[in-house]
Amino acid sequence: MSSSIPSQMKAIVVRENGPATSPHALHYETDYPTPKLKPGFVLVQNKFSGLNFIDTYHRQGLYPRTLPFVCGQEGGGTIVDIETDASNEFSIGDTVVYSCFETYAEYTLVPIEKLIKVPNGLSIETALACMVQGLTAHYLVSSAHANLIQKQEWCLIYSVGSGTCQWAAQMAKLRGCKVIGTTSSQKVQQAQLSNCDELIVLQEAEGQSYADYEHSHDKIITRVMQITNDQGVKCIIDGVGKSTSEISLNCLARRGIFISFGNASGPVEPFPLLRLTKKSAFVTRPKLLDYASNRKELLERIEEIFAWVQDGSLKIGIDQVFDLKDASLAHQYIESGKTKGKLLLKM
Ligand SMILES: NC(=O)c1ccc[n+]([C@@H]2O[C@H](COP(=O)([O-])OP(=O)(O)OC[C@H]3O[C@@H](n4cnc5c(N)ncnc54)[C@H](OP(=O)(O)O)[C@@H]3O)[C@@H](O)[C@H]2O)c1
Repeated sequence: MSSSIPSQMKAIVVRENGPATSPHALHYETDYPTPKLKPGFVLVQNKFSGLNFIDTYHRQGLYPRTLPFVCGQEGGGTIVDIETDASNEFSIGDTVVYSCFETYAEYTLVPIEKLIKVPNGLSIETALACMVQGLTAHYLVSSAHANLIQKQEWCLIYSVGSGTCQWAAQMAKLRGCKVIGTTSSQKVQQAQLSNCDELIVLQEAEGQSYADYEHSHDKIITRVMQITNDQGVKCIIDGVGKSTSEISLNCLARRGIFISFGNASGPVEPFPLLRLTKKSAFVTRPKLLDYASNRKELLERIEEIFAWVQDGSLKIGIDQVFDLKDASLAHQYIESGKTKGKLLLKM
């Protein structure tokens, strides 16, 4: 390790699963051991870590991890240490973004095959925002639907004023689909930037910052059927989960696909497979790792996203930047459903 790299660093460590307010669930430490370089990896000094809903599931234990661990799975900064890189693609001083574990920290050990160089003209914040939410939106609108939707056909995307689906709605339009979006009323401004053909605006659940999907089933189903001449939509992109799955199952067109990619309101309850018979429908529960499964796929997706951002056809908003030590506040923010764009932690 180079002598300028300290042996200890600041990090947010999950020592116990629990709520964001629990002192050991997101513990700010200033003497956590700096990871040591090993073959096939580089050491990145982070400027930012990206925040994602999945971080809250790791913290809570919904997606179990071995304790203790440094939270986070998205980062960006400068390469400060590297062993031989067989591809000769990277060197010390490069500004990179990446998705791998242990990013709420000053330094992260990153597998070389996960690194993406930040292109000229793009800020590190914007490039970083593309790594999880951007890539997720890209695979959702490009691959996860298994070509069961074609250009000019309707899809339904929930929460288009929020994180991932603000991107998904724009990308679905870029792919030539017609988009019905939903949003809570507080996020209408962001949702309108997503360029949906039709926008269904919902009141917030009582005392909350997210839409009252629980009491909006009839409103959404009726509106979707009106818009699609009673045919339903060929594809549904649903990151809300528990409170929207019934709506999704009722809005599908014949041989349509319900892509349930997230659980912002809680995990989807089990339902009988026979429910799918009515429309010969498809359901999938995908994850990013399976759609950026090798370097070629990762590069193809990220290069298309960067090109859209650079030519102005994809608009990315940074909602809030929190200090690393305020990770608990950032988790409370994301869990309250307030998110209107990318959230970052600053080192
Ligand atoms: N499978 C994958 O590959 C993958 C990748 C990325 C994310 N995800 C998952 O997808 C989900 C959404 O992620 P995201 O990045 O879009 O998150 P986000 O930016 O925080 O958006 C979540 C949105 O869901 C809506 N919502 C409805 N009920 C909610 C509730 N009870 N609590 C909080 N929000 C609620 C809110 O929008 P409204 O105001 O419109 O109601 C909220 O802004 C998460 O479960 C995440 O883990 C999965």
